[in-house]
Amino acid sequence: MSIVLFGPPGAGKGTQSARLVSDMGMNHVSTGDLFRAAMKNNTPLGVEAKKYVNDGKLVPDSVTIGLVEEVIAAKTSARFIFDGFPRTGVQADALVEIIEKAGALPLSAAIFLEVPTEILHDRLTGRRVCRNCGAVYHVQSKPTKEDGTCDLCGGEVYQRKDDSSEVISTRLQAYAENTEPLKDYFKSKGLFIEVDGLGEPNDVFNRLKTCLE
Ligand code: AP5
Repeated sequence: MSIVLFGPPGAGKGTQSARLVSDMGMNHVSTGDLFRAAMKNNTPLGVEAKKYVNDGKLVPDSVTIGLVEEVIAAKTSARFIFDGFPRTGVQADALVEIIEKAGALPLSAAIFLEVPTEILHDRLTGRRVCRNCGAVYHVQSKPTKEDGTCDLCGGEVYQRKDDSSEVISTRLQAYAENTEPLKDYFKSKGLFIEVDGLGEPNDVFNRLKTCLE
């Protein structure tokens, strides 16, 4: 099976995807990670994405869909976790076609991580990410052992530009306008599952696993 993991910014999609990848051997497609990697390497895609990502706006559908299509092309029989994609109705329609064309395993669930808005702000402003391996930390709930250094690879740990208070507001608005309506979309397809995203990451993970099993 392939799954979509969706929810507001800071719901824990990246944190839970990492666990699902190591526990269930699924392939992780995070459009946010792909855009950030392209921006770091200053590729044409990165230059285009930068116009939107740092301001908390959605990258245009045509660019995002093309990117996912390229990443999963010819991955016959692969099982994917789509994290942060789809984010619009147009992307949701495109995903079904992209999966079919690639010969990957079809979607069996769209899991929505439910976290109240007042919690999201603290999670996002406190998040720190390793520039090298992408490991995710939090200044309070999951600090690095040594300040500014990744526990896993020793890389530099930084704060994402879009994790400032001002940009977080724009991201939450983009989510409410474009992505929240996908709940109804996935319900109509019989794929929607809601999981409580509050509590220790391990507890959230156990809830996710129970749903998937
Ligand atoms: P993207 O990177 O996808 O950002 P997002 O959806 O806003 O999600 P986040 O990465 O901020 O949060 P998350 O849910 O993964 O939370 P995390 O696990 O890190 O996208 C960035 C940008 O790229 C977009 O704004 C847009 O511009 C563009 N983009 C991407 N996809 C696009 C698309 N499809 N179409 C158009 N544009 C697109 O956790 C957050 C923090 O909380 C961490 O510090 C973590 O340690 C902590 N935490 C996690 N779980 C828990 C828990 N259970 N308890 C306490 N703390 C927790």
